[in-house]
Amino acid sequence: MKSNQIKPSEITDESVYLKRREFLQLTGAASLGATLTGLPDRATAEIKNLNTIASKYSTSQTPNSWKDITTYNNFYEFGLGKDDPERYASSLITDPWKVTISGECDKPGDYLLEDILAPHQLEDRIYRLRCVEAWSMVVPWVGFSLADLLKRFKPNSKAKYVAFKTLHDPMQMPGQRRRVLRWPYREGLTMSEAMHPLTILAVGLYGKTLPNQNGAPLRLVVPWKYGFKSIKSIIEISFSKKQPRTSWEMSAPREYGFYANVNPEVDHPRWSQARERAIGKGLFTAKQPTLMFNGYSDEVASLYSGLDLRRNY
Ligand code: MTE
Repeated sequence: MKSNQIKPSEITDESVYLKRREFLQLTGAASLGATLTGLPDRATAEIKNLNTIASKYSTSQTPNSWKDITTYNNFYEFGLGKDDPERYASSLITDPWKVTISGECDKPGDYLLEDILAPHQLEDRIYRLRCVEAWSMVVPWVGFSLADLLKRFKPNSKAKYVAFKTLHDPMQMPGQRRRVLRWPYREGLTMSEAMHPLTILAVGLYGKTLPNQNGAPLRLVVPWKYGFKSIKSIIEISFSKKQPRTSWEMSAPREYGFYANVNPEVDHPRWSQARERAIGKGLFTAKQPTLMFNGYSDEVASLYSGLDLRRNY
């Protein structure tokens, strides 16, 4: 990916995107794939228009700006500062990109990103994102259903969990030279969480290719869980019998559990989770209350019936 390949005409300014969205909502039109002119706002990877349709799962809230979403990031492989990923993630080479499918399924193997994406219709999915650090954003992802992808590999009856891994390459990801986490970054979901229609793999933002700092070329998005579950730059997806260990759990098991469902009633040992700061609303705006399952209770609460969410945090 070469930064000098970006043409201003290939970038949609978020104000254009939002007006287009309003227009499409009014007219009921579905496709958001048209090319519109706008402002180049970043320069790390090739930004292309993606061919998308609107999703019925989107929230009606107004998304944060492209700038907020691409300059205030957590991606420890590129440093611990919020602006480090935007500054340093251009060293990640995202093309070609291979994803290994392994474990309890009939069709394991190595797949090129193009083959992973080929049969899927990309959707614009506007989701709330609630970080465990008690801030939140609204993000217009471009993605597709993880369930639709997983079914293609024919998981067998032993597959109870899905594990994910990020690339491990300290040359491309210099933050991995420090042992702030156990590398590679690992995450996991139960099979029913992975198969839930709200769970997506994202390849874009604002109708454009995902910038490296947001987890290019392929990242998970699970909107009812704290942001750290949404693992970036995925190179392996594995079906397993046993609950996989995650990087955050391995580093600080008392603070970060496997489930990590957004829950205003269960505090982090070092801070409250009852409220959150909405990024982009200014530092002096009052914090807003955090919603159970980040506002997606109607859709996902049934996944946890009978489970003690205090113990299974
Ligand atoms: N994935 C990897 N590989 N490395 C990370 O450090 N940070 C997580 C998650 N995925 C992280 C990651 C955290 S803590 C959050 S809040 C979200 O990514 C942030 O996603 P965003 O930067 O696109 O908002």
